[in-house]
Amino acid sequence: MIEFPTVQKQVIRNHYDVSTLFYRLLWGPHIHHGYWEAKETPAAAQIQLTERLARMAEIEHGSRVYDIGCGMGGSSVWLARQLGCYVTGVTLSSVQRNWASWAAMLRGVTPRPRFLRDDAERIEFEPASADVVWSIECTEHLFDKPAFFRKSAQWLRPGGRFALLAWLAGKDPLTEEQTELTRAVCKGMFCPSLGSQSDYAGWFEQAGYRVIKQGLWTRNVEQTWEICLRRIDRSGVRYLARLLGQNHTLFLNHFQAILDAYRTGAMEYGYFVAEKVA
Ligand SMILES: C[S@@+](CC[C@H](N)C(=O)[O-])C[C@H]1O[C@@H](n2cnc3c(N)ncnc32)[C@H](O)[C@@H]1O
Repeated sequence: MIEFPTVQKQVIRNHYDVSTLFYRLLWGPHIHHGYWEAKETPAAAQIQLTERLARMAEIEHGSRVYDIGCGMGGSSVWLARQLGCYVTGVTLSSVQRNWASWAAMLRGVTPRPRFLRDDAERIEFEPASADVVWSIECTEHLFDKPAFFRKSAQWLRPGGRFALLAWLAGKDPLTEEQTELTRAVCKGMFCPSLGSQSDYAGWFEQAGYRVIKQGLWTRNVEQTWEICLRRIDRSGVRYLARLLGQNHTLFLNHFQAILDAYRTGAMEYGYFVAEKVA
């Protein structure tokens, strides 16, 4: 695991409160990578990533889902519309909570997802109250990842599933250069740590899950950052970031670092489907 413990939760919250508009303008309602098999548009690639995870997790129609780190509600809305899921989305950001709630209401989504502003590391849900815990690109921001997985296992009924996508530290041992690059990404993207694929598999197992599917999609997702870099250069987003303060510029400046990290094996992009052991 690569650690960058000086990241603060308040800075993460503030980042998502202020930057949600950037994400919407630059990328769309889903704040996650796209998955490319061919020459899909970025919007299609983002949906493809969501669909692939849902298919792999074999989510049943009408499932009760906790969408942890729900952003603007992209996945929550998709799961409700496509699979009739009853979704509760959790985000650290009140701007995102409001955005997601309004978007779901204005688009007439049924069953209507509900959105909570809360901390995934502190929130309590009834034991065994979910069929699925879903989390795309949120656990990178958590401070005590093993404790979060233990907590999530309480929320799931026996046999329930955790569907996860995450940015990962590359395979151990990393060179000094790879470690520095990954730490630069942690700093710029507000991640107190990045676990490797084997770290995540271990956290799942220790929390009472059986990992049933896992793997890497790095080559399929990395062009996300080439597209974002092109879009930043063509748009006024960098000027807007400068006006909003140092942290926002820091964030944009690290897009190239992520691309380099993926290309050099310093980082990977991973998927996991884990089943709660009865
Ligand atoms: C990269 S975005 C992903 C958003 C969403 N999953 C999607 O795919 O569109 C990361 C999300 O994690 C949330 N997040 C970060 N730390 C969190 C925490 N401790 N508790 C709840 N949400 C958190 C942020 O508020 C943000 O919504």
